[in-house]
Amino acid sequence: MIYELSNPVTKTLITYLREQKSDAIRFRHTVAELTKQLVYEALQKFPLKQKTITSWQGESSFSTLDEENIIVVTVLRAGMPMLDSVMELLPNVTAGFLAMKRDEITHKSVLYYDRLPNCVGKTILLVDPMLATGGSMIDALELIKSRKPSKIITLNIIGSPEGLEAVQSAHPDVAIYIAQIDEKLNDDKFIVPGLGDAGDRSYNTL
Ligand code: PRP
Repeated sequence: MIYELSNPVTKTLITYLREQKSDAIRFRHTVAELTKQLVYEALQKFPLKQKTITSWQGESSFSTLDEENIIVVTVLRAGMPMLDSVMELLPNVTAGFLAMKRDEITHKSVLYYDRLPNCVGKTILLVDPMLATGGSMIDALELIKSRKPSKIITLNIIGSPEGLEAVQSAHPDVAIYIAQIDEKLNDDKFIVPGLGDAGDRSYNTL
């Protein structure tokens, strides 16, 4: 399942990301805002549980997401602003980290560090702003699946049709929520029109 956001606010924020003059702080802030939009869509049909809290009228039970059963897994480094954003929204979710780097010659992703909490029976939100060839997502999903979660949802900001198709055919059971599907990949496997390299744009390593 691939779900692309269509709100005019989403399109406006994507255009800010494409603008070369958007500096690192603006870039990370915009990625974070788009992430919140993705979370709202992705969790729209999520079951709520009842929680007893002390309100101004005393103890009562109210609806809430079961945050303890959600793990947000980020792909470093471009995924960091997305992880921060999910945890600002839902402060009781657990965080997991995968460090992956795309080899500039082979365009293949290489995992060089992972720190995942116990994923058994949990819902995983895998966050990475870019889905280019889809190689990083495919490998990340394979690793996460080996840890036996009950459900995996990916949140991506921008992707190529080729990459999305590759991820869907490798992992048809995963729901992909994406803010913008662009035209294509170029010969260097960059998304076109795209926004450049999200890691570099976020952390001033251009
Ligand atoms: C980018 C991006 C994804 C990957 C997407 O990371 O954040 O992880 O490339 O490419 P793919 O779909 O072809 O695998 P990058 O390797 O640039 O690392 P960075 O986050 O450290 O900048």
